[in-house]
Amino acid sequence: MSNMIAELLGVGHQYQDGPEVFKGVSFNIEKGSFRFLTGLSGSGKSSLLKVLYLGLKPRWGSVKLFGEDTFKMKPTLVPLLRQKIGVVFQEFNLLDHLTVIDNVSLPLRVRGVDEKRSHKHAGELLNWVGLGDCLKAYPPSLSGGQKQRAAIARAIITRPQLLLADEPTGNVDDEMATKLLCLFEELNKTGTAVLIATHNQRILKKFPYLQLTLKDGTLLQQQLEKKAS
Ligand SMILES: Nc1ncnc2c1ncn2[C@@H]1O[C@H](COP(=O)(O)OP(=O)(O)O)[C@@H](O)[C@H]1O
Ligand SMILES: [Mg+2]
Repeated sequence: MSNMIAELLGVGHQYQDGPEVFKGVSFNIEKGSFRFLTGLSGSGKSSLLKVLYLGLKPRWGSVKLFGEDTFKMKPTLVPLLRQKIGVVFQEFNLLDHLTVIDNVSLPLRVRGVDEKRSHKHAGELLNWVGLGDCLKAYPPSLSGGQKQRAAIARAIITRPQLLLADEPTGNVDDEMATKLLCLFEELNKTGTAVLIATHNQRILKKFPYLQLTLKDGTLLQQQLEKKAS
């Protein structure tokens, strides 16, 4: 069995006839890894995450997910691969007309799990992310940090092999940002590979994982600074 979740080789993209967003991007995501994707606003972080969850087909290069060449595979495989990936979107994408527990249960419900079991699991997960008091609340009544945690719970309820999070600390204060990162670390310890797009410098300093940085359309892999002892 390969140790690779994603293998990108020479990936490039350009929207319509706009400029190249990135080019020649090559990197791997290994099972159980924890990585940051950094770069200035507009550098292509969200676009690259989209490539990874099969929401965007890049113009150039090759993208393998779970060993499948995404350009050559049968379209029927797309939903199966997507099921192995959890995504925390920048704008949360919670459904406002469903309660928090129903939002978080949804990925299980669409996989055919009954309401009782999916609610039990969602309730446990919401307790874990500190939203045990908000099960019956509707998303519009939640703070940014609470929505963020609900979105994280929804993304991980299926125990994805890969979690992608787009600026997950963009709407919360430093203390909550640290808490969310600790949550991602806990998830990572259970075996999920994590890739977080962020430009939050304080978080990058505090959590010294490898950084993939998009700059001027190319991807740089940063060396880890040695921790001061
Ligand atoms: N759907 C789209 N259509 C056209 N241009 C887009 C689209 N999405 C993103 N872009 C452009 O691609 C570039 C990279 O955007 P994005 O991936 O959102 O970067 P980041 O997440 O790092 O801010 C920007 O110049 C942006 O305007
Ligand atoms: Mg973005």
